[in-house]
Amino acid sequence: MARSSHHATIHQKRRQTCNHSTMAKFSSRNKSSSCFSDACLFLGGALSALLLVWGFGSFIAPFPSSNPNFESVATKLKSFKFPGSVAGDTNCAPATHGPDLQDDSPEKTFYDDPDMGYTMEKPMKDWDEKRKEWLSRHPSFIPGAQERILIVTGSQPSPCRNPIGDHLLLRLFKNKVDYSRIHGYDIFYNAALLHPRMKSYWAKYPVVKAAMMAHPEAEWIWWVDSDALFTDMDFKLPLNRYKDHNLIVHGWPRLIHEKKSWTGLNAGVFLIRNCQWSLDFMEAWTSMGPQTPEYKKWGKILRATFKDKEFPESDDQTGLAYLIAEEKEKWADKIYLEGEYYFEGYWEEIVKTYENITERYSELEREDERLRRRHAEKVSESYGAVREPYLMEAGKGRGSWRRPFITHFTGCQPCSGDYNHRYTADLCWGKMVKALNFADNQVMRNYGYVHPDLLDNSVSSIPFDYPA
Ligand SMILES: *[C@@H]1O[C@H](CO)[C@@H](O)[C@H](O)[C@H]1NC(C)=O
Repeated sequence: MARSSHHATIHQKRRQTCNHSTMAKFSSRNKSSSCFSDACLFLGGALSALLLVWGFGSFIAPFPSSNPNFESVATKLKSFKFPGSVAGDTNCAPATHGPDLQDDSPEKTFYDDPDMGYTMEKPMKDWDEKRKEWLSRHPSFIPGAQERILIVTGSQPSPCRNPIGDHLLLRLFKNKVDYSRIHGYDIFYNAALLHPRMKSYWAKYPVVKAAMMAHPEAEWIWWVDSDALFTDMDFKLPLNRYKDHNLIVHGWPRLIHEKKSWTGLNAGVFLIRNCQWSLDFMEAWTSMGPQTPEYKKWGKILRATFKDKEFPESDDQTGLAYLIAEEKEKWADKIYLEGEYYFEGYWEEIVKTYENITERYSELEREDERLRRRHAEKVSESYGAVREPYLMEAGKGRGSWRRPFITHFTGCQPCSGDYNHRYTADLCWGKMVKALNFADNQVMRNYGYVHPDLLDNSVSSIPFDYPA
């Protein structure tokens, strides 16, 4: 009870803040609509000219090389009035850019259809057309729509059995929030069991479907298990590579097709296109789940097909391997098995490489001052791009000294506290903390701090020009 009333308070506070900022936004919009004087047009021009100068600067060299031209920028800034509160109120807000979050079309969309449902039981038809129609009614969402990603993750609706489970989940979620913020992705955390019989690994599919319905503006839903974390904050999905595919998972065709191994792929992290194909595929996939009368039968079929499967229940990962191997004609050409980099990677193989990787990255930073220049978090993608040429020789995936993209703690369940008995509890949670701090170092750097020891959660502030 205490927990929920505490939540309610936070919620109310949040809502107040929201209303407050909504109000602020409204008033600034009104101002902007009543503001078309020459002075405003002039300021707008000055702003884009300044942006152009900065923009070019950052394309060519995202740092001032030896003789930074701070003074001329400072002079420009003196004569330039910022709209809004930073440097005085000019009575003139810039025109709104990007998605319009305050306007819904009065025309009917799929949401107004009483037969439309978010649940797995209600099949969605003609989704591609409906999404397209929604977008055409909300044109401010069209720019960037082809690449828009919603990260979806979550955990169980009740407190963790593992005494440190909720803390670990919080840090694992923080890591995903960090990655999303740095790259401008939206993120949805689900903490409810949407279908009472689709538990554990089957629970994510109703969430992914509901997320598709709730986010017609997103092209991709990126499911990331709670026990997986981003350990390269710079790396971005090579979406161009996936343009002809609808489902991307980490996997190895030979292991699935020839060896018939249920570990030929991992279903804990996947990227799925928000389209009709994906809904149809998830219907086929989840027809092996515990909510169907076929569940037992599928357990037997999967175990007979994938001989190394250890447990009798039908599971989503083996189910996916089955659809790829046995219904190849139907699905496989739209499924991309990514094996070139750590789309997700097994922690035991990865965690031991963090120290050496940290050292290699520090070497790079000592060599090239551009890489150690302090900067705002918002522009960190441009620094990732500067580092990229140096990483060409590092390779990707196993044996590489590039930061592994996603470290996945398969076999360690932070919330339940269960773990594969090849390990110990201390090993699981200890390595998880190490991975979290390795990732957090990449984030905290832009806030001026670093965890000097990956096994220690404390931080130290970093000096100017670190690590020169
Ligand atoms: C880290 O680097 C050292 C020195 O080059 C090497 O001996 C060691 O094997 C490396 N560790 C790993 C896990 O690769």
